[in-house]
Amino acid sequence: MDLESKIVVITGAGSGIGAATATLFGEHGAQVVVSDLNMKSAQRVVEGIKKTNGSALAVQANVTQFKEVEALVAKTVNEFGRVDVMVNNAGIGGKNQKKTAEHSHDDWHDVIAVNQTGVFYCMQVALQQMMKQGHGNIVNVASLAGLKPSGYNLSYSASKYAVVGMTKSAALEYGRKNIRINAVCPGYTNSVLLDRLLSSRPDMGDTLKRLIPMDRFGEPHEIAGAIAWLASDDSKYITGQTITLDGGTSLQ
Ligand SMILES: NC(=O)c1ccc[n+]([C@@H]2O[C@H](COP(=O)([O-])OP(=O)(O)OC[C@H]3O[C@@H](n4cnc5c(N)ncnc54)[C@H](O)[C@@H]3O)[C@@H](O)[C@H]2O)c1
Repeated sequence: MDLESKIVVITGAGSGIGAATATLFGEHGAQVVVSDLNMKSAQRVVEGIKKTNGSALAVQANVTQFKEVEALVAKTVNEFGRVDVMVNNAGIGGKNQKKTAEHSHDDWHDVIAVNQTGVFYCMQVALQQMMKQGHGNIVNVASLAGLKPSGYNLSYSASKYAVVGMTKSAALEYGRKNIRINAVCPGYTNSVLLDRLLSSRPDMGDTLKRLIPMDRFGEPHEIAGAIAWLASDDSKYITGQTITLDGGTSLQ
């Protein structure tokens, strides 16, 4: 997998899947822009990459704010000259697990703002830059919840179905412009996001594991591997697709 010298921006890269993806790109010789709302965690990831002689830069950006997304891409271009790969990974879950009739409006607005509007803003600004440079590659982090219904999860489900839809629609628009756009759809993956979900219902860990034929949650580095592959030329005839990484959960 040749990622050497690629300029890669990753949102939500201070933790979980984003941090594992940043680390993997760093190991493969990419120049990694580690972006997160939380600058301290982004800096920790950058230090880790630098310890293994990788190249990385931490940039704070809230993906719900269009101007901050514009500044993130502008800073990357100022520093490195272009954006080869944009990984739109920042995402949150709802705070409450309630059925639709009781779904919290705060959860709705918060989750849609980060997971859906954030991905739209990041795709839009990255595409403007990629059109100028004549090439680009976008990988969006959707979810199994964007492919299959999941109860007690309306805003998250809506946002992730939207990410899959935006991935396919934009891929259709930019195929002729040398820009590929794909998505990964992880199932339950060990991270802060999953820990939060499980802490709200202590019995839930075992219940969820029973749904997974491989009998375990995914690990962030396993999702990172697919993101890096989609970002590399090894997948160069693939666009508008989703890769599901769920230990077989979607089979039933
Ligand atoms: N963990 C899972 O089970 C799972 C499953 C499917 C999909 N996903 C998706 O994977 C992605 C990464 O999640 P994770 O599990 O690694 O979670 P995580 O909580 O470990 O990491 C998410 C990161 O996003 C950052 N973030 C949150 N809001 C932001 C904002 N407005 N702007 C910029 N950064 C922001 C957080 O600070 C955090 O560092 C998310 O899109 C999530 O929906 C996770």
